[in-house]
Amino acid sequence: MKPLIAGNWKMNGFSAARREIEALISKLGGSAPEDRDILICPPATLVAGLAASYSDEGIQIGGQDCHPEASGAHTGDISAEMLADAGAAYVIVGHSERRTDHAETDALVKSKAEAALRAGLTPIICVGETKAEREAGKALDVVGAQLSGSLPETGEAYVVAYEPVWAIGTGLTPTNDDIGNMHDFIRAKTPEGTRLLYGGSVKPGNAKEILAITNVNGALVGGASLKADDFYPIIEAAPGEM
Ligand code: PGA
Repeated sequence: MKPLIAGNWKMNGFSAARREIEALISKLGGSAPEDRDILICPPATLVAGLAASYSDEGIQIGGQDCHPEASGAHTGDISAEMLADAGAAYVIVGHSERRTDHAETDALVKSKAEAALRAGLTPIICVGETKAEREAGKALDVVGAQLSGSLPETGEAYVVAYEPVWAIGTGLTPTNDDIGNMHDFIRAKTPEGTRLLYGGSVKPGNAKEILAITNVNGALVGGASLKADDFYPIIEAAPGEM
């Protein structure tokens, strides 16, 4: 399968950020390599503009969240259909920051993932334990429960991102064995061919070893996706078609 290297810009990025994408494209020699998927999930304000500008270069664009419904009286929300209409190909759902900031439950995350599939988007469904849960030896139980509650039942293709909450934005990462064990566990609970991403403090310095772990099929990158100088070496570290 093709590895997926996805950048999650979170609430960062103004229109000037397109310079970073242009710098990335020039480092890539003019367009994305065929043997890996490159995705950038900018703030919603930039989705349409970036999708229109860079799809020819093979840079795919995604949303960071969507509402379960296609349209209606939900002020401030964006539907999966709207993201698709704006040129997005993917949408992140259930990121731990949304689970925390917006009290998103597994059931809500599942409905968002199903909305994404309905709209023709590929959902990237995030799961991950807290530090206290890992220290209590409950990481597999917690992630197992999140998977049972959050994964869609439609049988269509989706992506799962394992992002330990304590590794996000902290510079901390699990050991390679802990990442491998969790990815083996998720592999056993997802349909064949599901791409499994690792996320949480992926940087140029650790990307190669993380992306070489069995059942790690790509990365979801936060801070290091904002600058071409950091994101490019992470893309280069991916092993290509696996
Ligand atoms: P980070 O964020 O790479 O800055 O740790 C990852 C994420 O939250 O997706």
